Amino acid sequence: MNIKKIAVIAGDGIGPEVVAEGIKVMEKAAVLDGRISFEFTHFPWGCEYYLEHGKMMADDGIEQLKAFDAIYLGAVGYPGVPDHISLWDLLLIIRKEFDQYVNLRPIQLLDGATCPITHGTKENIDMLFIRENSEGEYAGAGDWLFKGKQEEVVLQTGVFSRKGTERIMRHAFEVAKKEKKSLTSISKGNALNYSMVFWDEVFEEISQEYPEVETYSYLVDAAAMHMIMDPGRFEVVVTSNLFGDILTDVGAALAGGMGLAAGANINPERTYPSMFEPVHGSAPDIAGKQIANPLAAIWSVSQMFDFFGFEDIGENILQAIEKVMTEGEVLTPDLGGNAKTNEVGERVVQLLK
Ligand SMILES: NC(=O)c1ccc[n+]([C@@H]2O[C@H](COP(=O)([O-])OP(=O)(O)OC[C@H]3O[C@@H](n4cnc5c(N)ncnc54)[C@H](O)[C@@H]3O)[C@@H](O)[C@H]2O)c1
Repeated sequence: MNIKKIAVIAGDGIGPEVVAEGIKVMEKAAVLDGRISFEFTHFPWGCEYYLEHGKMMADDGIEQLKAFDAIYLGAVGYPGVPDHISLWDLLLIIRKEFDQYVNLRPIQLLDGATCPITHGTKENIDMLFIRENSEGEYAGAGDWLFKGKQEEVVLQTGVFSRKGTERIMRHAFEVAKKEKKSLTSISKGNALNYSMVFWDEVFEEISQEYPEVETYSYLVDAAAMHMIMDPGRFEVVVTSNLFGDILTDVGAALAGGMGLAAGANINPERTYPSMFEPVHGSAPDIAGKQIANPLAAIWSVSQMFDFFGFEDIGENILQAIEKVMTEGEVLTPDLGGNAKTNEVGERVVQLLK
């Protein structure tokens, strides 16, 4: 039996509500399959912890997490704690310390999901975004000079190292090659005359190693338009941290909303644990009401099974999610239903094969 140790950081707002459903699905899928099982350890870190202890996680939090095979995260952030603190002192630290430099975000229109564009179909909304997750605009480099003075200046520096840029692109090329799909790079070389010119050059260089992969390159503004007008042109996509963050929200909207958007933060070398989470935040506006959609959190569980090498179980979970959507009877209000969060989770569990 393959026993995986999972660190659970349910976090804030709707985080604990959706994570509870994800765990139910993990446990049931593992029991049905019989090859894998989980040991969960729950960590109380997040904004409530911050208000009590003045920090988002324990001082040795990163050390503690190193012992796990994966981290399952709900969401962090809540009114009362500045967003840059909740994001930087927990989520971004984990991504950085564990070198989770690949952010995988599938954008797939499942049967039964509502697409806001009339020409959106299951065939043409089927992309995999591979977002650089360790540097770029989220490197935390910059300065705040002459704070509060007339001559105040802030600098937020985009950091693009050769190592960081090459490895994300190579990863994306490998995925495109394996899946026999095209690879699109999204940048902004016309305006960002250092970072994005470099990005384009590295993309061109690495593409020479993969002559079998068809490539495209778009400016981010054009890419945003194409995603709406002609989504079918995107298959595997590689982007910088900031552009990926923004465009995958456009993708989430195309594929049925934030309640259906999953993401995985991967350390491909497996030196450190990878982290699986829904893309959405803590949604304080609906927290505590049991009306949050748990399907994104459950989809990220499917990604976790894929990562552990049990793609068949991951697929089983995705099919159960799709069945819930096509049945249309047990859905949360964001998808037009009136079911509770836990009822949706239970329906997914019932539909697992
Ligand atoms: N990964 C993370 O932990 C993460 C990501 C984004 C935002 N945040 C934090 O979350 C807090 C709220 O941010 P926000 O309001 O910009 O984004 P959000 O994703 O929490 O919410 C945006 C909108 O989508 C809705 N929504 C989100 N998830 C939903 C779900 N599962 N089911 C139904 N509706 C859902 C919310 O009700 C809200 O109307 C902030 O503190 C922010 O910093 C955290």
